[in-house]
Amino acid sequence: MSENPAALSLFAVTAPGLEALAAAELAAMGITAKAEPGGAAWEGTDEDLYSANLRLRTASRVLIRIAEFRARTFFELERHARRIPWERYVDTGRAVQLRVTCRKSRLYHEGAVAQRLMDAVERAVGTLEHAPAPRDDDADGEEDEESGEGSAQLFVVRFLHDRCTVSADTSGALLHRRGYRQAVAKAPLRETLAAALLLGSGWDGRAPLLDPMCGSGTIAIEGALIARRIAPGLAGPEERARRYAFQEWPSFDANRWARVVERAAAEVQPTAAFAIHGSDRDAGAVEAAHANAERAGVAADIELGVRPLSAITPPPGRGWLVSNPPYGLRVGEREGLRNLYSALGRVAKRELPGWTLALLSADRRLEAQVGVPFTEAIRTRNGGIPVRVVVGRVAE
Ligand SMILES: C[S@@+](CC[C@H](N)C(=O)[O-])C[C@H]1O[C@@H](n2cnc3c(N)ncnc32)[C@H](O)[C@@H]1O
Repeated sequence: MSENPAALSLFAVTAPGLEALAAAELAAMGITAKAEPGGAAWEGTDEDLYSANLRLRTASRVLIRIAEFRARTFFELERHARRIPWERYVDTGRAVQLRVTCRKSRLYHEGAVAQRLMDAVERAVGTLEHAPAPRDDDADGEEDEESGEGSAQLFVVRFLHDRCTVSADTSGALLHRRGYRQAVAKAPLRETLAAALLLGSGWDGRAPLLDPMCGSGTIAIEGALIARRIAPGLAGPEERARRYAFQEWPSFDANRWARVVERAAAEVQPTAAFAIHGSDRDAGAVEAAHANAERAGVAADIELGVRPLSAITPPPGRGWLVSNPPYGLRVGEREGLRNLYSALGRVAKRELPGWTLALLSADRRLEAQVGVPFTEAIRTRNGGIPVRVVVGRVAE
């Protein structure tokens, strides 16, 4: 990248409802970003771009806006597209993916817009492999699991009221793919949402943490990463950074990147200061959680056990119970779930007086069974379903 620290237009994309958390994470990095629908925007440097990818726990990708113009005809579109410095982001022979959406604009044919832009890229860098366009993520703001999965460079193109913005994806595979979660149990939570649940509940690593329905361990593992100040991009037994799309760019500055990684690695704490416990009644899930924690390099920080909710053994001190209990949508499951949520309330009153309870909830009626007064901290979506993060305090 250029040595010139001229401002780049950067945007950390989040699931809906997580925008303020991503902005707060950026603020903790010394970056002033503005929460906007769908993410957090700021004017920054290439170093910010590297750090944001490595460190953001709640964002799904980071985009850089590379052009913005008005076009009402294909002639205008072609003229502007030729001026975009594609060669900074695409090497000859690299596959390119275009995700185009057109709304309320003269140029409404997304395929034709994509074709013109692809021609402009080829004109700048030579013949390319065309990767199929990924599924649009506009429907619910949650990106498809496979989106940006391949090695292609993704460009996101948006036409609105005849104004076109072109952004280059800097991340590659979605950022929730930390790489540690290869073993999954039922209904695993995205790593970004698990981190949002923790950060949104107010837990900051400085109190005990318990997830008594831990499944494949995502909440406990994200908790251990936060507690030990391990950047999510460094999660792994060797603390080696994963690969990002910007590393394939001809303008990639390897020395600068090495400094960003080194600085993040130097912040890692050797152990978590407070106990982190995860348990589940399903032995297979706990086994998966253990394998995932090993891969994330935090197995020594988490005490895992196979036990039902009714038999939890909380760590001493006043802490946070953060969990994603099942919330089955099928009618037959209702009764059992009502019992589970009221059992959670009884156990909390007996074992966890004064603790904070934070749940990912998809059903207000189930939540009410817990008998703890909750306030809503976040409203988002999980796998297409509207969910809330609710937080309450167990009476002493
Ligand atoms: C939605 S999943 C949690 C997923 C987890 N957050 C993850 O990322 O993999 C709910 C979990 O609650 C567990 N569970 C349900 N009832 C339970 C009970 N009574 N005691 C302990 N665990 C229970 C299930 O075995 C399941 O693993």
